[in-house]
Amino acid sequence: MLRLDKLLCEMKIGTRSQVKKELKQGLVAVNGEIVTKPEYKVEEETDRITYKGKPVRYRKHVYYMLNKPAGVVSATRDHTCRTVTELLKDTGYTDLFPVGRLDKDTEGLLLMTDDGELAHQLLSPKKHVEKVYEVGLREALSGEDVRKLENGVDIGEGERTLPARVEIAEEMRIFLTITEGKFHQVKRMLQAVGNEVVSLRRIPMGGLKLDSRLASGEYRELSEEEIAGIKGGHH
Ligand code: URA
Repeated sequence: MLRLDKLLCEMKIGTRSQVKKELKQGLVAVNGEIVTKPEYKVEEETDRITYKGKPVRYRKHVYYMLNKPAGVVSATRDHTCRTVTELLKDTGYTDLFPVGRLDKDTEGLLLMTDDGELAHQLLSPKKHVEKVYEVGLREALSGEDVRKLENGVDIGEGERTLPARVEIAEEMRIFLTITEGKFHQVKRMLQAVGNEVVSLRRIPMGGLKLDSRLASGEYRELSEEEIAGIKGGHH
């Protein structure tokens, strides 16, 4: 059970005082009856709540996909740089954090949520959630390089990567699928075979695909199917 004003506030209908005013004006109904009391208790999962006649669906967590532009850091706060959390401030949710980190110069799919449990699951190397990167290279890969990358390479500081998949898209452009997220992993993997990453973009992650209609810097909420997909761990 939740106070009606708190629920409306959490669903970004307005601030606590705005919500109280709207309640007084008779703009909110619960199961078809107008409710004006802010302290009215609702069963958030089952009560039918409407605001100005439109249903208000209660959700404990929210999920957005962002097409991260280069030049923005995957952090919630930063002293000097724009952050991905700031890019989503118009959603009204200021406590969204990125699931995993993309480097400042990396573009592409970034899942933003306030669901810590899901983030933890998706990032755990034990879950083998696949992440696919489109990688622009300084030079073409040899067959030997591909084999090395796929079997796992030493990326320094005692770290060795797990098996990966390489798909050659063009001479200097590959798709690399990995299941881990070590610091600068893709860049270090290519360095390990004497190459260099010139551009890096993440496409899908754990079955979640980047919506091709999202321009760089744009975001949208995940659909119910997409949420179920990432929670179910389909890849
Ligand atoms: N690997 C990298 O090197 N950078 C990223 O942003 C993601 C994976």
